Amino acid sequence: MTIQSTDIREMKTDIKKADRADMAEKLGKTLASTYMLYHKTQSVHWNVTGPLFVSVHKLTEAQYEDLAASVDEIAERIRALGAETPVGLSTYVNDSVIDDQVSWGDAKAMLNQLAGDNLAVANQMREFVKTAEDADDVFTADLLTSRIGALEEAAWMLSASL
Ligand SMILES: [Fe+2]
Repeated sequence: MTIQSTDIREMKTDIKKADRADMAEKLGKTLASTYMLYHKTQSVHWNVTGPLFVSVHKLTEAQYEDLAASVDEIAERIRALGAETPVGLSTYVNDSVIDDQVSWGDAKAMLNQLAGDNLAVANQMREFVKTAEDADDVFTADLLTSRIGALEEAAWMLSASL
């Protein structure tokens, strides 16, 4: 989804309109990636089997709840910057940095895939922290930084479960 300056609401903020458009577009991509990760984490929660069932089932529940809350935070930051959020699940699938998938392997494959996906979303956000800092958008820089911490912790916990 492309966002132009003309799509941005007028506001008395020191963050330039063009920078708000750019940031909103990038936040839209992190929203799509986070939404995809939310879905994939929940589908592991539902479908995991084997000796790791209880621990992975509980771990992924805590993780998808955190992701659901962060989806809302990211979307509302886009609105606060004066833009509209991306709409439509197909938009999210297209804009996500991690791939959609329609089947899983065993528990080990699930954990490896999810750990990698968490890090891929964190890496995308890390790139966008620089954009936020250059635009003096300190709140977005902080939001993305805290999400990177949560995703890297999730990746560690998933990998440590193996
Ligand atoms: Fe559940």
